[in-house]
Amino acid sequence: MKDFKKEISKIIAKNVKISEDELYQFIEIPKDTTMGDYAFPCFKLAKQMHKAPQIIATELKEKLDLDDSDIIEKIEVAGGYLNFYLNKDSIVKEVIEEFSKKGDKFGSSKIGDNKKVVIDYSSPNIAKPFHIGHLRSTVIGASLYKIYEFLGYKCIGVNHLGDWGTQFGKLIEGYKRWGDEYDIDSNPIEELTKIYIRITNACKEDESILEDCRNNFKKLEDGDSYCKNLWEKFRAVSLKEFNRIYDLLGVKFDSFNGEAFYTDKMSEVIEMLDKSGKLVESQGAKIIDLEDKGMAPCMIVKSNGSTTYDTRDLAAILYRARTYDYDKILYVVAYEQNLHFKQIFEVAQLLDMDDKYKKNLEHVPFGMVRLKTGKMSTREGNVVKLEEILNESIARAKSIIEEKNPNLENKDDVAKKVGLGAVIFNDLSNGRIKDEIFDWDIMLNFNGETGPYVQYVCVRANSVLEKAGYIPEVQNINTDKLDDEDSYDIITTLGNFAETLENVTKKEEPSILARYLITLAKQFSSFYNNNHIICEDKETQDARLYLTYMVKTIIEKGLNLLGIQVPEKM
Ligand code: ARG
Repeated sequence: MKDFKKEISKIIAKNVKISEDELYQFIEIPKDTTMGDYAFPCFKLAKQMHKAPQIIATELKEKLDLDDSDIIEKIEVAGGYLNFYLNKDSIVKEVIEEFSKKGDKFGSSKIGDNKKVVIDYSSPNIAKPFHIGHLRSTVIGASLYKIYEFLGYKCIGVNHLGDWGTQFGKLIEGYKRWGDEYDIDSNPIEELTKIYIRITNACKEDESILEDCRNNFKKLEDGDSYCKNLWEKFRAVSLKEFNRIYDLLGVKFDSFNGEAFYTDKMSEVIEMLDKSGKLVESQGAKIIDLEDKGMAPCMIVKSNGSTTYDTRDLAAILYRARTYDYDKILYVVAYEQNLHFKQIFEVAQLLDMDDKYKKNLEHVPFGMVRLKTGKMSTREGNVVKLEEILNESIARAKSIIEEKNPNLENKDDVAKKVGLGAVIFNDLSNGRIKDEIFDWDIMLNFNGETGPYVQYVCVRANSVLEKAGYIPEVQNINTDKLDDEDSYDIITTLGNFAETLENVTKKEEPSILARYLITLAKQFSSFYNNNHIICEDKETQDARLYLTYMVKTIIEKGLNLLGIQVPEKM
């Protein structure tokens, strides 16, 4: 497909002293379609040209030669912007031709060819509940993975399990004392959590128990077989529960190398830091002082000799550099860990590895999940388990379906897709840094800006195609039949699909795609309400059916890229 933005930058570049490539970065797609198809913000030139943006816009408009291009219909000045209106027929033809060539690969690209991205996501802690906070990391990470991959990148999805640390010394001690009082096999995480709470309380009352716990972790680190076996059991039963959730969500990982994986890889990191001369003793511990960066010190080795979460993350960076030769690592982790990542990214500068690995470490933070009634706490007694939430969403979707469409086939399967789609879309449709509100009525509203709404529009498009019984041949499409506002809006939106996906990766923000799908779904609803798709005139019918087919394909693709499935009917 012609790159319209490129055409526009070329034309502007002939008249200003800025390179085509730079201009290309400035050009935007206006939010409101009445403002044209593309907009050039002239304030980007104001400093260089010593003129007010509006004056630049007016002067530029005079200079630009429209005969240079067969795609631009007109240009208008609006404030400091120069708005470009493209020639409708040429856009319609371009989009249809491109779609007919690429099908459900429409929007994919090669910008990521030969580039590798490690995505560190989900990463729950073993023997602790997988709560709704981990859901955000899981769905944002999984969606970024799919979108990067669609743009040609090689992705490596890593579940950096929290499976190491002093807490396992405690858990081992609790298990040793009271293990047979608990039914760990049938309900592992809940029972282990109870043991953990009990032993933590016991430690508070009796110093010597705490000492035993510390010794257990030391033994575990030294490879003691009793401790190691127990730890392996805790890890295995936890993973079994986590995998149930991942299967339900359809989420996959390329690696489950968690914190424990780095036990034998930290001494190298400590040596490197030592050599850098920056590792200093402080009250028996070894730290990297970060005062000049305005941060608390980064603890590398504790006074009792044990390593930390930070040290393990540093070892992971080194390992990933060597193993995956990454172009960047994305850490999809709650904003509560902002400081942790700032610290380790700073300390990573001291590691003995190529600069490219040091520069491309990126924390992708996200906000908290709040229930309509208040904050969701993971504290004792108030744990909201993710699996229960997902199952509740499926059950609620099922009862809505029972009510609206009692004769539907495969109701359970549809309910699963709709229920999960509602939760995932709710999570991804708001900017990730915003705290998320969890409200059943909003997310399962079939008429709101929700997953079920977008799925429903897709299903409706599909049923039109089914009713027609054929998908028209592209060479039979007369584009003159798509010259109404509704059709044109849809085509323009479809034409922006590739750019939308690229914007997701520029900001690590899947919500850009979710919002895009809402726009497309609304545009199709309007088109559907205003036109008879199946109609008297065969040429009109073919053109409209093809448009319907494109919309159905792209909505389905877009939802899939967010990790959402679309039912055949609903
Ligand atoms: N296990 C941590 C938690 O649940 C998240 C780990 C994130 N990844 C990382 N490389 N530190 O809070």
